[in-house]
Amino acid sequence: VTFEVEDHDGNRQSIEAPDDMGLSLMEVLKASEYPVLATCGGMALCATCHVEVLEGKDGLGEATDVELDQLEALPEMFDTSRLACQIRISEELEGAVFKLRGEEN
Ligand code: FES
Repeated sequence: VTFEVEDHDGNRQSIEAPDDMGLSLMEVLKASEYPVLATCGGMALCATCHVEVLEGKDGLGEATDVELDQLEALPEMFDTSRLACQIRISEELEGAVFKLRGEEN
């Protein structure tokens, strides 16, 4: 599946990721050397993997209550804020655009 990621400086890059390995978006971002802290290792506890979904939010499914609690505790939350560690890479993400909003490492 191919989607786009916009970094903290506003640079957009296309990313191709396997959609049959059960990876999370956070894992793919880290593997692509984006500065995602992911302090909690993907447990929806740290919110440092915060992304804003600029396009394609319909393909993502609903956020869980645990995810929403973390997002609501952030100083800055957007209408389409999500935690990258709670987004599974699937073919539904084709054409989506994510903007990094978490703390940089
Ligand atoms: Fe900690 Fe996503 S990695 S909330």
